Amino acid sequence: MHAVTIAEGRLEWTEHPDPVPGSGEVLVRVRAAGLNGADGLQLRGLYPAPPGSPADIPGLELAGEVVELGGGVTRWSVGDRVMAVVGGGAQAELAVVQERHLLAVPDGLDWAEAGGFPEAFTTAHDALFTQCELTLGERVLVHGAAGGVGVAGVQLAAAAGCTVVATVRNPARRPDVEALAPGVTAVQPEGFEAHGSYDVILELVGAPNLPADVAALATGGRIAVIGVGAGARAEVPLLALMAARGRIHGSTLRARSLEDKAAAARAVERHVLPLLADGRVRVPLLDTFAMADASAAYERFAAGGKLGKIVLTTT
Ligand SMILES: NC(=O)c1ccc[n+]([C@@H]2O[C@H](COP(=O)([O-])OP(=O)(O)OC[C@H]3O[C@@H](n4cnc5c(N)ncnc54)[C@H](OP(=O)(O)O)[C@@H]3O)[C@@H](O)[C@H]2O)c1
Repeated sequence: MHAVTIAEGRLEWTEHPDPVPGSGEVLVRVRAAGLNGADGLQLRGLYPAPPGSPADIPGLELAGEVVELGGGVTRWSVGDRVMAVVGGGAQAELAVVQERHLLAVPDGLDWAEAGGFPEAFTTAHDALFTQCELTLGERVLVHGAAGGVGVAGVQLAAAAGCTVVATVRNPARRPDVEALAPGVTAVQPEGFEAHGSYDVILELVGAPNLPADVAALATGGRIAVIGVGAGARAEVPLLALMAARGRIHGSTLRARSLEDKAAAARAVERHVLPLLADGRVRVPLLDTFAMADASAAYERFAAGGKLGKIVLTTT
């Protein structure tokens, strides 16, 4: 097979041996693989693949067809349309995936949309609903809302009947974010606390927001720290956190155990796939690139100012 390959800090399209599915694993012919911020970090040597994932083939999410079953696989058949979050190795013509990490691609969803779905929607669903126990009609703040995880979080919170305030630093993207769902207000990042208070805050930007996040918490409010691109060290007003009886959660998806990743996949299967299947949430696409042309896709991702996923596709 061919794969996007990290070689001395550059991306190449090179040949690798075909991967072989082991017990409980499935071989997927990859049709589409979404880009994520972690891919650029891995390229720069800042985010190595976890054990069990190829060290030199990036890619955290994929969609494609099942072409071979390893021993003991019961959930899938050859020919099934599937998608998944993986620890790495998605940006390749073939990938081995644990069967319990796979989700069925709903009828009507095209490959590029499916390839851009798993990472952002699993991250957003896990942070909002599993960690922060978001519930009907709460007031939600999403920082960095025009990005992949933000677009997913805004739609999922709105689908749960929540009022959503979304910070978006590029003014041109604010109407696009408001158009994602009814009840969404897009605001500039500066002064976001004036639109609160908030029951749940999805923090996708990082440390500089934390003091005002805590100060803007409603009683019983929860903060999920998911992205720290703007900084990872914050001074937190603990008295305000105590007064709100607030909680701050943090998590990463990639480093989780096989069991924990399977649990996150089952939660998405149960609660998000029905919304995706009937169009109540969608995967906006900014652009698609041939997988062999991954460098151009990475450059577009790094340029910022986007709304929607950038997805690599195979023929
Ligand atoms: N913990 C986990 O398991 C997990 C999983 C997935 C992602 N993440 C992390 O979560 C973050 C969001 O992921 P993503 O896929 O949504 O990334 P993305 O598509 O690159 O989106 C990031 C968004 O945040 C905005 N932003 C970045 N820096 C900002 C700043 N200093 N002030 C205001 N806005 C800023 C960007 O605006 P511009 O377009 O204007 O730059 C963009 O809209 C990333 O840091 C990513 O690494 C973590």
